[in-house]
Amino acid sequence: MVKEKQLHNINWDKLTFSITPTRSMYEAHCELDGEWDEGKLVPFGNISLSPAAGVLNYGQGVFEGMKAYRSVKNRVVLFRPEKNALRAATSAERVCIPPVPKDQFIAACEQVVRDNIDYIPPRGKGSLYLRPVIWGTGPVLGVSPAPSYTFLIYVSPVGPYFKSGVKCLNLRITNQFHRAAPKGTGGHKVIGNYAASLFPQKMVKKAGFDDAIYLNAANEKYIEEVGSANLFAIKDNVLMTPSVDGSILPGITRDSVLTIARETLHMEVREHSISIKDFLKADEVFCSGTAVVVTPVGKITTNNTSTTINHNKMGPITKKIRKLLLGIQREEIEDPFGWIYPIN
Ligand code: PLP
Ligand code: COI
Repeated sequence: MVKEKQLHNINWDKLTFSITPTRSMYEAHCELDGEWDEGKLVPFGNISLSPAAGVLNYGQGVFEGMKAYRSVKNRVVLFRPEKNALRAATSAERVCIPPVPKDQFIAACEQVVRDNIDYIPPRGKGSLYLRPVIWGTGPVLGVSPAPSYTFLIYVSPVGPYFKSGVKCLNLRITNQFHRAAPKGTGGHKVIGNYAASLFPQKMVKKAGFDDAIYLNAANEKYIEEVGSANLFAIKDNVLMTPSVDGSILPGITRDSVLTIARETLHMEVREHSISIKDFLKADEVFCSGTAVVVTPVGKITTNNTSTTINHNKMGPITKKIRKLLLGIQREEIEDPFGWIYPIN
């Protein structure tokens, strides 16, 4: 077990999904076409960049989102970090950033969690969110890859992502904006995707919704995802989710939910295009992600209709899946899939 350091004056009962400064962050550097240096922990704080940095001018950056939990076995654990390492590498390649080797990525996560161990909320109160970012930080004027790169991991204790906690979400299907185009960057965790979602999110929030549901850009017939989470529908005990075809982020929680449903609950699971019409007929709807975990959706509004799902309550299958996922993550139940990564 990692040695505890002094505890802070953080109100663990009031945690939200926001930044609390912590002790340290991890930082490594690399030249274009070079190798990443081994990196080191530095005090958490501001960084200095050229105004011509690639990330600032052309959005050359990718990120990941992960959580460290205190488990019932009195350990600190990560969840499937190799998946985040792999996705960070493929996202990086999509925007010409030298990928960070998997072992370095995971070792860096471990290092930063260990050093900030006292910022992990007590069991049941939240988690330590890890935000690995890889940016083109060298100066560049013409549109081309930056000459040098920075890999940072900062961390923050967090609570629920949505203000409503695990209450049912009220979502608006938008055909005014697209999150991602076919053959674009939607399938990668590229920072520009999130800038593009800010205005649509602002519009739907102003209208009283929790977030927007995006449709496929080609013909606006099919459901894609929320700006920060994947979507699932359950109809007649069949679990459905849009297939990962390039414009949807291949969520690690999404993959875990599909596995739990298939292997543990012995449900029929389908990955395919889901039309708006079929989606609105679902018995249960929920979204999945590292930040949102499994959050039920209680109401969905289109241009013409508002549909209440399962009386605006978390459905029984959603509840089971959420419980199993959190149970594995907190080591309350056995992890039959080898997903838990203890930090020693
Ligand atoms: N979709 C988008 C657009 C996201 O930003 C995220 C969050 O990372 C997800 C889905 C869920 O991915 P994961 O389960 O890996 O956190
Ligand atoms: C996550 O779930 O970790 C994400 O990265 C989504 C969001 C906070 C951008």
